Amino acid sequence: MSTPEQNTDDIILSLENVSRYFGNIIALNDITLRLIRGEVHCLLGDNGAGKSTLIKTLAGVYQPSKGTYRVDGKPVHFTSPKDALDLGIATVYQDLALVPLLSVARNFFMGREPQKKLFGLLNVMDLETCATTARDKLAEMGINVRDPHQPIGTMSGGERQCLAIARAIHFGARVLILDEPTAALGVKQSFNVLKLIHKARAKGISVIFITHNVHHAYPIGDSFTLLNRGRSLGTFTKQTISKNEVLDMMAGGAEMQKMIGELEGATI
Ligand SMILES: Nc1ncnc2c1ncn2[C@@H]1O[C@H](COP(=O)(O)OP(=O)(O)O)[C@@H](O)[C@H]1O
Ligand SMILES: [Mg+2]
Repeated sequence: MSTPEQNTDDIILSLENVSRYFGNIIALNDITLRLIRGEVHCLLGDNGAGKSTLIKTLAGVYQPSKGTYRVDGKPVHFTSPKDALDLGIATVYQDLALVPLLSVARNFFMGREPQKKLFGLLNVMDLETCATTARDKLAEMGINVRDPHQPIGTMSGGERQCLAIARAIHFGARVLILDEPTAALGVKQSFNVLKLIHKARAKGISVIFITHNVHHAYPIGDSFTLLNRGRSLGTFTKQTISKNEVLDMMAGGAEMQKMIGELEGATI
């Protein structure tokens, strides 16, 4: 959807007419999407709509087959997720990339553990600093960990989701992409994840929140893009669309209504 009145400096990343093909399959078809600095942008759509393909394109896992990907207004050509991370674009996938047997603290740092010198010579991981930093940073995000040395496998799904998000924020994400973070969670745990998204936005982080649950998306979202079979049905700000309209669009409600109208008008 073109928004000529939008100041381009306000756009942290954008896809302009991006398509992505897998052989004959058109996973994304001419998508234009603009993420405004500091907003929570919800990406909605049914299974197979192209949501994961879209975020993997943003994350540098896939390259667009057509179209332009811009970050801070400049075209980018990512060849790996590291290229995206280097620009502060962090993605939290559904499988989270956590190691169940490692401690909460080690999972928080994951290869970026602070070091200390043993006997003034050997560089070793400073596990105590890891533990206190992880505990403090998680507490700042409203996640209270009893013992940061405990294996992460002992945390609930919601807590793990929150840890993965808190980790991305701590390591300097400017853009946080969350693929269905509430899909496997109950009401209370989903609420904790939504609170964390709220906190991320308060820190000025721009968020892309993928979900097919409108009840999770609507309260927290500033804008909404609906995907349907690889195409965008447009981006709508919260001021311009009601929760029921989002619901309708997701359920194909408008299409259904039209078909029913045609049926009623027909003389059988
Ligand atoms: N690596 C791939 N190879 C072939 N087809 C794919 C691949 N990834 C996704 N697709 C196809 O692209 C379409 C969109 O998939 P996906 O992005 O996973 O949707 P969503 O995340 O919204 O469920 C589907 O038809 C899917 O089968
Ligand atoms: Mg998906």
